[in-house]
Formats: sequence, structure tokens, C-alpha cells
Amino acid sequence: MFNKRIKIKELLLQLPGQHDVVVMGWVRTFRNTQFIALNDGSTNTNLQVVAELGRFDDDLLKRITTSAALKVTGELVASQGKGQTVELKASQIEILGDSDPEKYPLQPKKHSLEFLREIAHLRFRTNTFASIFRVRHALAFAIHRFFHDKGFLYMHTPIITASDAEGAGEMFRVTTLPFDQPPRTEDGAIDFSQDFFGKSTNLTVSGQLEGELAATAFGDIYTFGPTFRAENSNTTRHLAEFWMIEPEMAFHDLEDNMNLAESFMKSIIRFVMDNNMEDLVFLDQRLLEEEKQLPADKRSEFGLLDKLKMVVNNDFERITYTEAINILLESPAYKKKKFQYEVKWGIDMQSEHERYLVEKHFKKPVIVTNYPKDIKAFYMRQNDDGKTVAAMDILAPGIGEIVGGSQREERFDLLTQRMRDMHISEEELWWYLDTRRFGTVPHAGFGLGFERMVLFVTGMTNIRDVIAFPRAPKTADF
Ligand code: 4AD
Ligand code: MG
Repeated sequence: MFNKRIKIKELLLQLPGQHDVVVMGWVRTFRNTQFIALNDGSTNTNLQVVAELGRFDDDLLKRITTSAALKVTGELVASQGKGQTVELKASQIEILGDSDPEKYPLQPKKHSLEFLREIAHLRFRTNTFASIFRVRHALAFAIHRFFHDKGFLYMHTPIITASDAEGAGEMFRVTTLPFDQPPRTEDGAIDFSQDFFGKSTNLTVSGQLEGELAATAFGDIYTFGPTFRAENSNTTRHLAEFWMIEPEMAFHDLEDNMNLAESFMKSIIRFVMDNNMEDLVFLDQRLLEEEKQLPADKRSEFGLLDKLKMVVNNDFERITYTEAINILLESPAYKKKKFQYEVKWGIDMQSEHERYLVEKHFKKPVIVTNYPKDIKAFYMRQNDDGKTVAAMDILAPGIGEIVGGSQREERFDLLTQRMRDMHISEEELWWYLDTRRFGTVPHAGFGLGFERMVLFVTGMTNIRDVIAFPRAPKTADF
């Protein structure tokens, strides 16, 4: 058996006196040809390995360079040095993989996030990214646990589909037709009947429509998978490939939907606070350091940990779209013409408006409901006023929109009328409409953008730093 190693996170909790302890990891630093800081990704706290002077060959010691991979066997002893209670006194050191210090791009110093994005394949070996990705993992686990505990069924919805769930036309096409000379129909259009699937297909923008099919049999379901949007948004909040969690619940109205979304967000944040405090403390300090370089008025009002505590311990604000517009119209920012984009009833709020509401006005997450129907998707339930739909977006400080959801239009006639108005084909969505034909029920659901949630919990500011290998316009490396 090759691997009887103990992970460093676990080892650091143990008492001195054990022999034949085996650890494996990557060298962070090597001081005075004696002290190796070894990291195995289980924690940001390095294990101090002591290679006593005279005990190891010079040839071996020369190969202990930053990021070389080592297997170390030794005795766990009380540490004399400061910074750790135990250290490993090495009896054997084996180099599993060399790392040429002349060529290794990550030096033990501070690198910019921009530089690290260019070497995303190595950035996991920094404390910042190790913490981010451990938190990302914890959030994913907490999400499955939350829904499982509530009796939701995890649905795997298709990645390749023929429908545009959001009707926004931001899709990546999937095809095996030749680009240079695709087959054409008599009227000159591309003949997708000859394509792989016999029709035009794309990568999914949302699993919601399929999720609704399952919810009208199982009651409560959720999806958690990759989604794709070909929107040309080069911002710190948009990715072309992102992960989304979409619960869909039969017998839920808009208020049930809001209640679920709020307790869901709080629950998964709490899970990370209970299980990843070391990483959160690290990220809290990182943010503080980073913001020292900003002018005072650009710094966050709260530290990361204080922000998270505030969010889990307080109710989200709930307002209607109409109230939100009125707050904006009465705001000092509006009166002083600080907004770049127009404010009036009917607009699709821009991120400057959303951020004003959450960061300046309410200073906490806000759920905005009942948006104008013309700026929302066809499937949202129409309100009696004839102008608005039972939509809800959750806006988070520092992020803007983090959740989008709604009660769904369960009334067949109203839904098909809306589809006609919006030029959405009833023939293509025959299977979706069947749920409204056979045992239709009030139902609701929402989508949480996973990376925006990871941004919120880690205090990072660019979405490309919370997904391993970001896909964005002109960006598809690794
Ligand atoms: O508001 P959206 O477009 O809603 C839907 O897709 C619905 N089908 C959800 C549902 O009701 N089941 O997207 C939901 C969330 C947004 O609030 C945002 O957090 C995230 O997905 N999101 C993105 N995240 C990163 N990059 C992008 N380009 C995103 N577009 C949306
Ligand atoms: Mg939205």
C-alpha cells in the first residue's frame, strides 16, 4: 500500500510523541536548509518539517525546492519555534516530484490576482485560492444537504437542449454540421434536420423547464449543474459557463418561494461558518489588507465575517419593484444625478440601482418582487394588475442579483397567450405545456447563481476567481 499518509489538518490536532507519521505534500518554503513548510491542501496552516542538520545528503536537500512534492516520515514532536505547537522531525524524506525553482512561476511572495488568473492551473497552491475552493466545496455540500434534509429530489437536467428556457436568445449552439458548407433547405436556411439531433440544439441556459416537469410529479426537486450563456458581458459578475442551483416546488406561491430562498441562503452560509472558520478568517484578513489600498469611501462597510453574521442573523428586506423604483427616485443619488442609467417604472434595474438599494439604502439583502411583465420571462405568473408578474430577485450587498425566481404561470390559457405575445413556439414546448394540461398546480422556484454565492461568502470581487477555470468572452484557457 502506497498511501498511509495522514492529512496535515488532522495531524496538527494531535499530541506529540507519535512515531512513523507519514505526510505528503508540496513544499511552500525551505529555510536554513533545515525547516520545510509543507502544505497538502487540507489547510492553509503548513506543517513544519525539521530536517536536522547533518542527517540528510546535500543532493537530497538541494531538491527540496518550492512546490517539490515530498513524502516525509518522522516523529511528531512539540515545537520549539513559534507559530505551531507540533512539528515533524523527519527520519526519511523522499522526493516524489521535483520542481525547478528557476521555472516555477509561483514564488513565496504576494502575486496579483490578475497574474494568478493567467496561471489558474497553479493558483490552487496559494492560500487565497486554497481557501476559496475549500469554501466553494463546503457550499456545494451544504446545498445538497439542505435540500436532502427537506426531502427534495436532486434532478439532473440535460446540458444539451433544443429550448431557450429564458427566451433571451443567449445560447451556444451545439452542432456537428460542417461550417464551410452546411446543408441548406430549399429556401436557403441551414437544414438542421440533417444535424446530429435532427433539429437545432444548444447548451442549456437553465434547467428550470425540465425541473418543472419533475416538480409536478415529485413535489420538490432541485437541479445543481452547469449552465451556459453567450451574453457578451465582460464584467466581474458574469461568466459564460456558471453553475446554478434551481429548486422547483409544487404547491408553493411567491411567498413560500421567498421564505425558502431566504432560509436556504442563510443555512448554507451558516454551514460554512460552522465548518470553514479558518478559511473565512483568512479571507476576512485578505479583504481587509486588499481594501487598505482603496480610498476610505470605496472600502466595505463591514468585514467579511461581520457581514456574514449580519446576513444570517437578520431578516432580508422585502419590497416590491414599484417601491424599489420609488426609493431610487427619492434617493440623494438620483437627485444629484449620480446614476448613469435612467430610473423610471418599467426599467430593468441596472447594477448601480441594485447596489444602491442593498448597499446604501437597506444595507442588507433585499428581495424585490412583482416586476413589470415586459422585462421578465414568459413563464412567470401574471398578477391581477395586468402589468406585473410574481417574480422575485434577491439582491446581495457587493453582488447585486444573486437569485432570480418566480411563481410560475400554471393557467394554461394565460401561459399560451403570453407565449404568443412573446413569440415563443407552443409547438416546440408541447411537453412543457402538458404539465398545465394534466394536473396543473400552483408552483414556484428560483435559481441561485453558485459563483455569485461563492463571491459573497469569500469576499472576493471578481467572479473569475471563484471558479477553477473561468469561461468568459475570449477566455477559455485550461
Ligand atoms: O435570473 P436568471 O436568468 O434566472 C433563471 O435562469 C431562472 N430559470 C431561475 C429559476 O427561476 N429557476 O439566473 C439565475 C441566477 C441569477 O440571479 C444570477 O445569480 C445567476 O443565475 N446568473 C449568472 N451568474 C454568472 N454569470 C452569468 N452570466 C449569470 N447569469 C445569471
Ligand atoms: Mg435574473
